[in-house]
Amino acid sequence: MSLLLNAQDPVAIESAARRLAAGSLVGLPTETVYGLAADADNASAVHRIFEAKGRPSDHPLIVHLAPGAGPQGWRAGVEHYASEVPAFALVLMQAFWPGPLTLILPRRPEVAAVAAGGQDSVGLRCPAHPVAQALLTAAAAQGVHGVAAPSANRFGRVSPTTAQHVAEEFAGLSDDALLILDGGACPVGIESTIVDCTRGYPVLLRPGMITPARLEAACGQPLRERDQAAPRASGTLESHYAPRAQVRLMSAQQLQAALDLLGADAKHIAVYARPAVKTLAPVPRRRMPDDAARCAQELFAVLRELDATGVRLIWVETPPDDAAWDGVRDRLQRAAA
Ligand code: TXA
Ligand code: MG
Repeated sequence: MSLLLNAQDPVAIESAARRLAAGSLVGLPTETVYGLAADADNASAVHRIFEAKGRPSDHPLIVHLAPGAGPQGWRAGVEHYASEVPAFALVLMQAFWPGPLTLILPRRPEVAAVAAGGQDSVGLRCPAHPVAQALLTAAAAQGVHGVAAPSANRFGRVSPTTAQHVAEEFAGLSDDALLILDGGACPVGIESTIVDCTRGYPVLLRPGMITPARLEAACGQPLRERDQAAPRASGTLESHYAPRAQVRLMSAQQLQAALDLLGADAKHIAVYARPAVKTLAPVPRRRMPDDAARCAQELFAVLRELDATGVRLIWVETPPDDAAWDGVRDRLQRAAA
């Protein structure tokens, strides 16, 4: 079993920072999801992330930077990892960091090659979660420029939003191999919005809770859709975030009709839908909130919980066709693919 420490424990942050500096792995709460963290400039530590996740080593990881303006803050981190920062990217950092936004920038060839999965770019983000910030700051004081951290789940599976989820994902790792900082449930709940800044204009690679409209308003230019030339991102693979049960997305009407048809025979099915959908048979059921932010916050925990009931199918109401729901809709579509 991995070692689980309450992040409020006075020794927790220091021990975790020492482990990072020594090349070991840390389960880290961020405002989006929990990350599986290692020193981004330590190739063998980063290899251990790929190994623990079962993730192909050519899938690049996001490098997390400490907050603040000092010599160990995110500006210094950006200088360390990026060879070039377009003006619109700097504006986006200033507007949304610390926060759930990742920017892909051209990489300085001599740094973080393994974390970048061999790409000539690097994904950077300064997280807003106080525990992540405290750990990044303590690690920076020990010479760690940035912390590579993919979501702390096995490859292709649902991202973790609690420390318990992380412990379940990596139950096979010993307490020497993995220290998990318990910082409670993640407030955002789905992964950061990713914007590619390597092509001279912003391209949306992965939707999140920062909407395109807010990004466009901040940087004063249109956000382009990803195309063939856009860098590959594992969170953008068609099938991802998948529970064991099969997820099916349906409109409220379709879902109601299917449930009515099955009646009491609705076995092996769990339902995640807004209150208008009525389930008569006693199936595992969670009510989808009307608010996108609240839905995002609980989404992965709900998928895990419904999956754990042992059902074969999870029927989910298609979220509203509104930009505020883009991130949630994207994750559900990938869970269903
Ligand atoms: O909210 C988040 O972003 C969380 C927390 C832990 O920060 N992290 C996360 O990491 O979601 P991960 O590895 O599960 O997803 C990172 C995504 C992947 O789809 C990866 O391909 C993409 O970022 N990415 C990272 N660096 C990249 C690069 N240089 N070029 C293109 N895509 C990149
Ligand atoms: Mg992931």
